[in-house]
Amino acid sequence: MKKTTYLSGVSLLALSLTGCSDSNDFKPITGMDGMDIYANACASCHGENGQGKFGLLKLAGSEASPEEISAKIINGGHLMPAFPNISQPQAEQVAAYLKAM
Ligand code: HEC
Repeated sequence: MKKTTYLSGVSLLALSLTGCSDSNDFKPITGMDGMDIYANACASCHGENGQGKFGLLKLAGSEASPEEISAKIINGGHLMPAFPNISQPQAEQVAAYLKAM
C-alpha cells in the first residue's frame, strides 16, 4: 500500500515535470474567478500561494506581464501543459490574480 502511494507520487511528479507540452483538460465551471481557477488548475504545480514547489516554479512576484501569463495559460510552455478550455477573459482573470499575489 505504502509502496503504491510512493510510486504513484513519483509518476505524478515525473508527469508534472517531464510532460511534453500536453494540454490539460481542466475546464472552469461557470462563475469561477481567477482565484478559483488558479486553485484548481495551477496550484498543483505552482503551489497554493504561487510559492512554487521544490524551490521551482514560483509565480508570486513573477516578472511576467499579464499578457505573458495569459498567453502561457492558453498556449502552455516547454513543460507546462496548455489549457485550451480556459478562455482569454478567464486567463486574464488568473493573470490579474497572480499579479496581485
Ligand atoms: C503540470 C504542471 C503545471 C501546471 C498544472 C501549470 N503550470 Fe505553469 N509552469 C509549469 C512549468 C514546468 C513551467 C516552467 C517551464 C515552462 O515554461 O514550461 C511553468 C511556467 C509558468 C509561467 C512562466 C513563469 C515566469 O515567471 O515566466 C507562468 C506565468 C505559469 N506557468 C502560469 C501557470 C498558470 C496560471 C497555471 C494554471 C492555469 C499553470 N501555470 C499551471 C508547470 C505547470
